[in-house]
Amino acid sequence: MSHASIPLPTTPESVLPLVIQAMSRTPDARLRELMASLTTHLHAFILETQVTEEEFERAVKFIIDIGQATGPKTNEVILAADLLGVSSLVAVLNNPGRHNDPHAQDEAVSHAALLGPFWRANAPICQASDNIARGNTQGVPLEVRGVVYDKHGKPLAHAMVDVWQASPIGLYENQDDTQDNMNLRGRFQTDAHGVYCFHTVRPAGYPVPTGGPCGDLLRAQLRHPNRPAHLHFMVSSPDHKVLITQVFADGDDNLTSDPVFGVTAPLVGDFKEHLVNGQPHATLTHDFHLSEGEMTFPHPPIP
Ligand code: BEZ
Ligand code: FE
Repeated sequence: MSHASIPLPTTPESVLPLVIQAMSRTPDARLRELMASLTTHLHAFILETQVTEEEFERAVKFIIDIGQATGPKTNEVILAADLLGVSSLVAVLNNPGRHNDPHAQDEAVSHAALLGPFWRANAPICQASDNIARGNTQGVPLEVRGVVYDKHGKPLAHAMVDVWQASPIGLYENQDDTQDNMNLRGRFQTDAHGVYCFHTVRPAGYPVPTGGPCGDLLRAQLRHPNRPAHLHFMVSSPDHKVLITQVFADGDDNLTSDPVFGVTAPLVGDFKEHLVNGQPHATLTHDFHLSEGEMTFPHPPIP
């Protein structure tokens, strides 16, 4: 056999078909499709940008570094996906949200947002109106209330509303030894009318963690790390898709420059402030609309 007839690559472009061929017997059809597409895009990217050996080595080092920097307090792998807009893209793609159109009698479904790294499973089960600001957490008191609906607009009794947020100094309790365990976290069941209600303090905006390789990337790109202030919600009810979302403080300077691209228009909350005995108090009313589906929960990004 002359070497001309052996299927070996002769040009950069001829590597890809060989790889696709090598993977073509993958029995899992979805894995086969995902890997073929990923490989095709990767090869096209490398050819388009003419990646050098030094750049490839640097990219490999970044992937090693984000893996090694991931541990009990931080998840740099998820953070990297967040900063590339990938986490938000997956959330929006799979939960596009639908608005109630009274003319079309359309079904409403809430927008989702990325989970972020700070959700913890098993937050305390609370009673309606409980305050999740524990210990000596200072801040502007905030009352949050709303209704959880199914896709037909029927209130969902006994739905679970799991909330977590950063403190007024912009740290989650698992980033900050001065806060009580499970501070600013709680799970609230809706009542017979689908209503949930809790008390807390207004969250502050905060920087995504910048001490690891992702921080180096942000600095190299002259990007600021500051997320707009928000509350996280995970809303669940049997036979409904778990809604993972965030509600952002209206008026925050960083709504249009969230480093992780989590803000969509319907997720900007309607916060109202008023004075009680001369002191500011805030209220937020926000409803959730669940779609039908399997009630599966994510794995906590950090334990
Ligand atoms: C968060 O909202 O908790 C978050 C999301 C992405 C990166 C860092 C924090
Ligand atoms: Fe957050």
